[in-house]
Amino acid sequence: MISNLERIAVMTSGGDAPGMNAAIRAVVRTGLFNGLEVFGIKRGYAGLIQGDLEPMDSYSVSNVIQRGGTILKTARSQEFRTKEGREKAYEQLKKHQIDALIAIGGDGTFTGAMVLMQEFPDIRCMGIPGTIDNDLLGTDFTIGYDTAINTVIDAVDKIRDTAASHDRLFFIEVMGRDSGMIALASGIGVGAEAILIPETRLGIDQLIHSLERGWLRRKSSCIIIVAEGDELGGAYQVAEKVKAKFTQYETKVSVLGHIQRGGKPTASDRILASRLGYEAVEALTRGKSGLMVGIQNNEVVYTPFDHAIKDTGKINLHLIKIAEILSL
Ligand code: F6P
Repeated sequence: MISNLERIAVMTSGGDAPGMNAAIRAVVRTGLFNGLEVFGIKRGYAGLIQGDLEPMDSYSVSNVIQRGGTILKTARSQEFRTKEGREKAYEQLKKHQIDALIAIGGDGTFTGAMVLMQEFPDIRCMGIPGTIDNDLLGTDFTIGYDTAINTVIDAVDKIRDTAASHDRLFFIEVMGRDSGMIALASGIGVGAEAILIPETRLGIDQLIHSLERGWLRRKSSCIIIVAEGDELGGAYQVAEKVKAKFTQYETKVSVLGHIQRGGKPTASDRILASRLGYEAVEALTRGKSGLMVGIQNNEVVYTPFDHAIKDTGKINLHLIKIAEILSL
């Protein structure tokens, strides 16, 4: 073990994701197992700036593995984006004699950790990927993604029942401001007639063509999954653009919204979070820092923060083709 690692802190930051509690639990208990003191920071960087942190013991993470949300709460901090804000955060870490920080979150969280380490090189950080968007490189899946796509699939299955009963064309908007991962996976899982994601430029003409094809096949209903960040707009805008062409169907829109961020984590998310929480602490004890810990092909992988947040090329666009063929 690295000799000057005695006290670590853990926090969740950015959008919450189911499984974050399982990751916090794993960090706390692995830290304690290694003889470390573990502090929990409330509300991410915002709480750190205010010195809102307290010691955690094994009991403090009892009965949380199955709970959605985050017991440490989370926030998006504007103040931490400023040099003054980061100075305050650093002062709090020093005041509480924290040797290393474990940040659970997504690209904003890791960007923050990276800048903090550049400005204050004596701070060690490890990142754990926690976001429903699954838009980080260096891990096959982020914590929360599996639960989110299961939530979407469950909701869309229900919508499909009513869509089929009424011969309706349903535009369903799912989360993903910059990423189509949720839309693509859930679109395949529900057998959507079309999937619109920001990484492709499907275009209205192509969408109309796909829907006409469905009509010719005498489909009584159609489901179009729209990622909120699609270049054609959200589900309402897309529906507006095509509904005049399909008067044979009644057009409806459903925005799933924050239901996608809540709920009990799935088995996969609990296991992933437990493994990543454990590995993040182990990595710190071996002197690693500035890295996100992930799992690829069932192997633990460490990725520098600047690479993890690049989010290029992770989405498998071949899946779009598969989705198209399977909905013929
Ligand atoms: O958690 C990621 C994400 O769900 C994005 O897909 C979405 O655009 C964003 O968070 C919305 O989050 P909030 O409501 O917290 O601003």
